[in-house]
Amino acid sequence: MSSAWNSVGAAANALEKVTIGKLFSQDPARTASMMFSAGELLVDFSRQKIDEQALQALIALAKDADVENLRNKMFSGEAMNNTEGRPVLHVALRMPAHESVVVGGENIVPEVHATLGRMANTVEHIANGTHVGATGKAIKHVVNIGIGGSDLGPAMAMRALSAYAVTGVQAHFVSNVDPTDLAQVLAYLNPHETAFVVASKTFTTQETMANAHTAMKWLQTGMNVADVQSHFFAVTARVDAAVQFGVSAENIFPMWDWVGGRFSLGSAIGFSLMCSIGVQHFNDMLLGMREMDEHFCSAELQKNVPVLLALVGIWNRNFLGCASQAVIPYLQELTRFPAYLQQLEMESNGKRANRAGKLVEHATSPVVWGEPGTNGQHAFFQLLHQGTDVIPVDFIGAARTTASGLDEQSAREQHQKLMANMFAQASALAFGSPAATDVPAAQGEHRVFPGNRPSTTIVFTELNPRVLGQLVALYEHKTFVQGCIWGINSFDQWGVELGKVLAGDVLALMANTSLDSTLDHSTRVLVEWFVNNS
Ligand code: F6P
Repeated sequence: MSSAWNSVGAAANALEKVTIGKLFSQDPARTASMMFSAGELLVDFSRQKIDEQALQALIALAKDADVENLRNKMFSGEAMNNTEGRPVLHVALRMPAHESVVVGGENIVPEVHATLGRMANTVEHIANGTHVGATGKAIKHVVNIGIGGSDLGPAMAMRALSAYAVTGVQAHFVSNVDPTDLAQVLAYLNPHETAFVVASKTFTTQETMANAHTAMKWLQTGMNVADVQSHFFAVTARVDAAVQFGVSAENIFPMWDWVGGRFSLGSAIGFSLMCSIGVQHFNDMLLGMREMDEHFCSAELQKNVPVLLALVGIWNRNFLGCASQAVIPYLQELTRFPAYLQQLEMESNGKRANRAGKLVEHATSPVVWGEPGTNGQHAFFQLLHQGTDVIPVDFIGAARTTASGLDEQSAREQHQKLMANMFAQASALAFGSPAATDVPAAQGEHRVFPGNRPSTTIVFTELNPRVLGQLVALYEHKTFVQGCIWGINSFDQWGVELGKVLAGDVLALMANTSLDSTLDHSTRVLVEWFVNNS
C-alpha cells in the first residue's frame, strides 16, 4: 500500500475510539467546516466519523492517485477506458456548442448538438401532432425499451421530474425480458397512439431486442397494418442494426462508443424523457450536469464536493470496513435514484482487477441500495440503528415539495413532516441514545441506540431538472474519483458477460435437451424440469 494510503489508515486508527458525538463536542465549528456547496446542492459531511486530520490524509490520497490529472485527461478525451481503448466523454454531452473535444481527429461537440437539435425537432413534432402514427392518430405515449443504462437513467429521471412533464406525451419504461413487464405497460395503451423507442447502444441486448420484436407485433396486430415505422424510434451506436430492424433512418438518434451506458442519461438515451418533459426542461437538466462538471473541474480538492463524497465513501469502505452504502432520498420523486446509483457505482467499481490487470489489494465498491424515506423507516431502519453492521447513509431532501393537485397547506405540512423525519433519522444514527432509566429491566439493551453511525445529508431548495442534473453528475464524478483511487477502470463491465454467454447455452439446451451440453449438472437438471413443466 502507498504511504498516502497508510497515512489514512493511521488517521483511522487515531479515531478508533472517538465517536461522532465526541467529534461534535470537541469542535463547535464542526458543522460549518464540514458543509459544502456545489451548484444548488448543500452537502453536510459533519455526521461522518471523520476529522480534519483524516480529511487531509484523504485529500493527500486523492492527490497521490493523480485524481486531478486523470479528471483532466477524461475531459480532454484520452482513452480512459483502457480495456476497450475508448475515451470516456459523457461530459461532452453537456458541453456548450463553442467547446471542443477531439476524438479520432474530429471535434465531437457539433455532433452532440446536432443530435440534440434533431431530438428537439422530433419531440416538438410528436407533441404538436405533426408526427402521427400509422393510422393518422397523434402519439400520446412513448415506451422506452432498453435495459441497464438504456433504462435506469431516463426511467429514474422521468419519475424525478414528473412535475415537469409538459408536452402531453407520457413516457413509459420497459426493461425486463420477462414478458410481464411489457404486458403490464401495454395493457393500458392504445397502439394507434403509442410509439416505441428502442434504446440500445449495441442493438444486440437480448432483453431489449426481444421486447422490441414483441412490441412490433403488438402494433401490427393492434392496428391491423404492416408498416409501423412511424411508431418506432431508436437510440443506438449501431445505426445499421436499427435500420435492419425496421426503424427508418430519420427516426434513429446516434450515441457513441465514448459514452458508457450508465453515464448516458444526457445523450439521446434521454429521448423518451425529453418527449415528456420537453426540450427546455431537458436542456435545464444538461445545464445542471454541466454546472457540476464545472465545479468538479475548478474547485480545489478541499472544497470539491464530488471529490469529498468519493473520499468519504473510500473512508467508510476501506478504513471503517463498511461493506454497504444506503442512499435514502426523502423525496418520493427519487424512488428510482438508488436503483440508478446501483448500476452507476456497482457496475463501474465492483471490480477486483486493477487497471494493469492485477488483483487489487483493497476492497472496491460497497453494495449500494436504498428506498425512499419515510417508507424505509418502517422497514429496514431497525437494522440501520441497532444492527450489527454499520451502514453509512446518504440522506437526500428538499426544502419544498413539488406535489401538486392537493390542498396546498396540507401538502406543505406533510412535506415538513417528511423533512423532520429525515433530519431526525440522521441525528438518531449519529448520536443515538442510552436506554431510558425507567424501562423494564428485560428491555435494557433493546432500548439503547448506540449512535456513531455515519451519514451525509444532501439538501436543495426544490427538485427541478437543473438540480437533478447536478445530483446525477455529482454521483458520476464521485464514481470516477473512487475508481481513480482504487486504481480500477470504472468504464468497462466484463463481469456481466459470462452470464450472457451461459444464457445462450441454456436457451440452446431448452430447444434441444438431447444436446451434448457442457453446462453443469445442476443447471441441466433444472432445464429439464423447466422443459417438462413449461
Ligand atoms: O449488460 C450490461 C450492459 O452492457 C450495461 O452496461 C448497459 O447499460 C446495458 O447492458 C444495456 O446495453 P445496451 O444499451 O447496449 O443495450
